[in-house]
Amino acid sequence: MKDAWKPLEEAEVQPLSTLFESEPDRLARLSVEEAGIRFDFSKTHLSETLLAGFETLAETRDLAGAREALFSGKTVNVTEGRAAEHTAERGQGAPESVARAQGFHARMRALIDAIEAEAFGPIRSILHIGIGGSALGPDFLIDALGRDEQRYETAVVSNVDGAALEAALGRFDPQTTLLVIASKTFTTSETMLNAQSALLWMQESGVDDPYGRIVALTANPDKAVEFGVDETRILPFAETVGGRYSLWSSIGFPIALALGWEAFEELLEGAAAMDRHFRLAPLAENAPILAAFVDRYYANLRAAETRAVFAYDERLRLLPAYLQQLEMESNGKNVTSDGKPVSRATSPIVWGGVGTDAQHAVFQLLHQGTHLVPVEFVAAIEPEHGLAFDHHRQLLINCFAQAAALMAGREADDPARSYPGDRPSTTILLDRVDARTLGALIAFYEHRTFANAVLLGINPFDQFGVELGKEIAKAIDGGGDLDFDPSTKALIARAFGEEQA
Ligand code: F6P
Repeated sequence: MKDAWKPLEEAEVQPLSTLFESEPDRLARLSVEEAGIRFDFSKTHLSETLLAGFETLAETRDLAGAREALFSGKTVNVTEGRAAEHTAERGQGAPESVARAQGFHARMRALIDAIEAEAFGPIRSILHIGIGGSALGPDFLIDALGRDEQRYETAVVSNVDGAALEAALGRFDPQTTLLVIASKTFTTSETMLNAQSALLWMQESGVDDPYGRIVALTANPDKAVEFGVDETRILPFAETVGGRYSLWSSIGFPIALALGWEAFEELLEGAAAMDRHFRLAPLAENAPILAAFVDRYYANLRAAETRAVFAYDERLRLLPAYLQQLEMESNGKNVTSDGKPVSRATSPIVWGGVGTDAQHAVFQLLHQGTHLVPVEFVAAIEPEHGLAFDHHRQLLINCFAQAAALMAGREADDPARSYPGDRPSTTILLDRVDARTLGALIAFYEHRTFANAVLLGINPFDQFGVELGKEIAKAIDGGGDLDFDPSTKALIARAFGEEQA
């Protein structure tokens, strides 16, 4: 097979300013408008030549075939021998998987109706316990969309650090709190311990039938039954929905409860619109695929080790954390799907923050540092607050100015005051922050992650890299005469006493 990377490696690197001059249709060609979002890739080095080269790479790697395999429920998660059916939750997938997802959604809705009808007594707050993919999506969306419409007080607790749970418990009345335990496996140690502590809190507070106040969201209902949850309050989802792709399934229960069923449906519809775009748009007009080309260009041809994402919107402040799991747990791999060592860098380190705060903290390095960092700006045109002054206009002005400055740079006689410029960025501009648009935005990131994996030949749907640490923690917890390295032993002895080491 011809090495499709070769022409890419040999392509001439042109500065962004030259590209804008030599490619007059560049802005139009590298801008995609879809589902209320404008994606502008024009301030990246994706030249016509590079684009053509990446299209060839995508064809060589059969990206179109892989995409169809994803949507039709084929075994795309080869190392675990299963499909990845998050799109079926949005109605885009194999008919039997869509029907199953709709059945689970109907169950979820019925339970929400019962809660609203006070079948479990008056519920005022939702304590959602989960971690990773069982927490980040609900946390992000409720924080983004529930600022003034939230019908229940909500807390998402993930960390095993008791300080996190204690803070949440301190806010809530145990008599009116619904305890939601979210875990695909229902075995994750942090979640199980937090759930036990929350249950104890209810028991000690004299709640009548505390088990009756638990809702379990899981792909392993037997384990939830074992924990003591009644089957009528177990909301299952399919094993084929991966943890970090699961907010569309019953893991989204707190989103639907806190924001209302209509908002949850809009979220799914927004994601479905992006699914259709990803599935049908030609490669060169396809937002997730263009983004993956840009990602591969900087990671593999310019050796950029990171990508920075800045949300120019307080409502999106948890987006970088959400993306860190989605992208790094999916594509932080060192072997291909068939177990061979990869020959190229895989996921960049994704990091970021909120604009404008980050401008006064980390942007110095972006403008004048020695690292090449492709930057992603995410902003929304409509503000949420009702303040009299033009905060939102200032926010957007800053966002656009930073991207322009990174690209333009400025020479000065004093080297310390010079900006090299030619620093790439992508701007993702949402019409507004609502459920539909965020559904589309998250689906865009999911498909971009998948497209990157296909271009690299890796499996984005497993995460074996998290297992070893869990096993060692279990071994340390079990004590015994296990022989750890001297440093670990010394730390154990210092923290728990000599007899534990
Ligand atoms: O440890 C990693 C991980 O398995 C993630 O992939 C997952 O989202 C998280 O833990 C939580 O897992 P679970 O939903 O099974 O509790």
